Amino acid sequence: MLTQPSTKYRAFAPIALPNRTWPDAVLTKAPIWLSTDLRDGNQALVEPMDIDRKMRMFEQLVAIGFKEIEVGFPSASQVEFDFVRKLIDEDRIPDDVTIQVLTQARDHLITRTFESLQGAPRAIVHLYNAVAPVMRKVVLGMDEDQIVELAVTHAAMFKECAAQQPATHWTFQYSPEMFSGTDLAFSKRVVDAVTAVWAPTPAHKCIINLPSTVEHSTPNVFADMIEWMHRHLDRRDAIVLSVHPHNDRGTGTAAGEFAVMAGADRLEGCLFGNGERTGNLDLVNVALNLYTQGVAPGLDFSHIDDVRATVEHCNQIAVHPRHPYVGDLVYTSFSGSHQDAIKKAFTARKDGDIWDMPYLPIDPKDVGRSYEAVIRVNSQSGKGGMAYLLESEYGIEMPRRLQMEFMQAVQRVMDVAGKELTAADLYALFEREYGLKTVQALQHRVLEEQGEGSNASVVLRGDLPWLGETRAIEGRGNGPIDAFIHALSEATGHSVRVLDYHQHAIGAGADAQAAAYLELRVDESQTLFGVGVDADIISASLKAIVSGLERARAQGLRSVETKATELA
Ligand code: KIV
Ligand code: ZN
Repeated sequence: MLTQPSTKYRAFAPIALPNRTWPDAVLTKAPIWLSTDLRDGNQALVEPMDIDRKMRMFEQLVAIGFKEIEVGFPSASQVEFDFVRKLIDEDRIPDDVTIQVLTQARDHLITRTFESLQGAPRAIVHLYNAVAPVMRKVVLGMDEDQIVELAVTHAAMFKECAAQQPATHWTFQYSPEMFSGTDLAFSKRVVDAVTAVWAPTPAHKCIINLPSTVEHSTPNVFADMIEWMHRHLDRRDAIVLSVHPHNDRGTGTAAGEFAVMAGADRLEGCLFGNGERTGNLDLVNVALNLYTQGVAPGLDFSHIDDVRATVEHCNQIAVHPRHPYVGDLVYTSFSGSHQDAIKKAFTARKDGDIWDMPYLPIDPKDVGRSYEAVIRVNSQSGKGGMAYLLESEYGIEMPRRLQMEFMQAVQRVMDVAGKELTAADLYALFEREYGLKTVQALQHRVLEEQGEGSNASVVLRGDLPWLGETRAIEGRGNGPIDAFIHALSEATGHSVRVLDYHQHAIGAGADAQAAAYLELRVDESQTLFGVGVDADIISASLKAIVSGLERARAQGLRSVETKATELA
């Protein structure tokens, strides 16, 4: 790269539009949408779509709700021509949908284009020629007058061809190609000359489409250009003002949105931003941006993953995992602080609330995504994400201090595995760490003894599975847990104190289980949790005590082993 890029590149000149109004505009309704997936998008593919793929894409676009669809460039190839014929001959175009086709300003191409449209009930025919100085000088070798002449002659030819097929309802569209790199006065001159020929009326408008064939400037400059044209074009009330942004600077979406704020009525683009080089305007992006502002876009992405599957099949290009609204990862938070905030916001949210969720600009459910992917756990994650997954997938509602304790076990596994842990991985680890499968239910009976209030006592008798054998135990206390702790201490020689106790039901009805989380002080030296799950709440609590005691023994053994290794 150059240390002085100004020796090679020049800055785009700003537009003198001191009283510009677009920065204050607010988008309150959807523009007219035109999908050019089957034309501009298709032209950009390594392998352009065959007829089957084109048909699948067309049907997908119709299902989404597009009413104007550019279906091809019929004079460019036989497949393109045949596809237009197939749509018309097989009556595949719904009554509320209008197809559009593109042609260059050349006689034989225009003739062939109108031929492809014979029998169409309605059609938009789209004429373009280059107007930018670089194209005029280097490619076409024409001066400004010749360019105007080229556009006007072929606009007139449109009228003649259309007159020969009067049964079709025709709409004409003109694009000054590379509008984004052309001075405004000349763009206006060409467009006015074309509309003078077509003589559109407010009742029968033509479409003037202003492309940023290549993005040259920041999107505010493009918006200035659109507002300038919006204000200065002749016959504005008889024109549908359309824009066609590309995305060379990565600001296609902003350019499209600003252009509508600046007076454009219509947006051309492709699903997920496919198109030449860095792509066309991403229409899904703009539509869902509107949706998140409370504006109905008139396009339905309730099943966005199905749309993506169709687009990937037809274009044979994968959609990036971080692509707005649709990528695999766009509803996922890995970072601990994000997870924590999302978890709290989900808990605080009530049905019918306005959507106001940290890190989630749209409810994933509205586009057919589940909450499953919202929180995923990797080495960047905190206990909030882990707790959220165990709660949402397995109904485990861990108290906060248990979350902190279990997170250490998660972190140990993560450090070794170095990869994401799924909800199932976390649950398997939780089961293992707290012995949910190995700690067996204690066969026990609880007998009430005489006494009132604080003098009341119970006796608990049972068979304790311990160190590979079963020991008969008996203990007395002010309740079953207290009695069990006394019995346990006698049978195993370990003292246990309950510091904290939480319980809740998992599930409902006959299958409901009770979960008990007990924070224990063992042998007055170790503080840790035990967890028990059982159909019976007392059994769940007793299991939790054994779970904690076994963990304390295992950890004691581990530290003895570590010391022995250090000494060796
Ligand atoms: O990007 C462009 O300029 C085009 C025109 C043909 C509209 O695709
Ligand atoms: Zn284009």
